[in-house]
Amino acid sequence: MNVLGLSASCRQWGNTDILVHTALRGADEEGAETRFLRIPDLGLGPCVGCMACVFKDRDCVQKDRLPEFLEAMRWADAVVLGSPCYVLGATAQVKNLHDRMIRFGIRREFVGKPGLALVAAGVPGWEPLALSQVSLFFLFLGMPVVDQFIGHAQGPGEIFDDPVACDRALEAGRALGRGETAYRGDPGACPVCHMDLVTTRPDGAAHCLLCDLPGTWEDRDGGRRFVPAPGAEPRWSPGSMRHHFEERILPSGPRFKARIREIRERIGQFRAGGQPWKSV
Ligand SMILES: Cc1cc2nc3c(=O)[nH]c(=O)nc-3n(C[C@H](O)[C@H](O)[C@H](O)COP(=O)(O)O)c2cc1C
Repeated sequence: MNVLGLSASCRQWGNTDILVHTALRGADEEGAETRFLRIPDLGLGPCVGCMACVFKDRDCVQKDRLPEFLEAMRWADAVVLGSPCYVLGATAQVKNLHDRMIRFGIRREFVGKPGLALVAAGVPGWEPLALSQVSLFFLFLGMPVVDQFIGHAQGPGEIFDDPVACDRALEAGRALGRGETAYRGDPGACPVCHMDLVTTRPDGAAHCLLCDLPGTWEDRDGGRRFVPAPGAEPRWSPGSMRHHFEERILPSGPRFKARIREIRERIGQFRAGGQPWKSV
């Protein structure tokens, strides 16, 4: 097994680096080869929205170190991605990585490689979005999440005061090293993403925001469980992903091209102070 560790923290040897390295040590104990990459060190620029990678299946137009990252992803049989929590969510490094990887949601090149998602956060309860943003990296790419958790620490290195998180990183890393793909984490509200992002909509319907999965709340075993609607597929299922890209995204390119003259004229009208969305 080749296990790749990715840290999305700018603090070298901070808490995220330590948790990711701990997972790699676990994998190493099981005989895996390991590699560690710090995402900020790659200096990846933002997605510029040209859509060439999606519509033309071309390599990214940005001339930076994304190929190095992709080479590491191809080398890996399993991946650990860690992020600090910044302002309730993952770092901008994680979001940037999602955007730069959009082509691979279509290409399905990394499907099936197991992933471990982890977060280092300073204050319990001040990290409601962070873990789902890290796990999203795996869900979007069709990679099964083996575990996902948050460790708590403020100063770089204080994560050693959270032995539960360190032990969990070690154990999850061992599982990756053994080639395990089954989910071993906390159940969570949603049976697909195992996150607690199920909302109750104004009409009373329950919906997992991350998975775009409708369902109902059912009283069971003295508590409430989210039960997905029969036949409903999460947005990550191969069928839903194919439909999204083939029916929604890919046709938008030729449709736009066919209207480009008209749209440019309307932008011109708008720039001149007009309201080209109103019919005359
Ligand atoms: C800009 C910034 C924003 C932060 N926002 C949060 C936050 O919203 N919730 C939280 O729990 N911790 C927050 N923290 C604390 C970090 O998550 C915490 O220090 C973490 O251990 C950093 O991981 P690192 O050592 O790998 O960089 C923030 C830290 C910074 C620098």
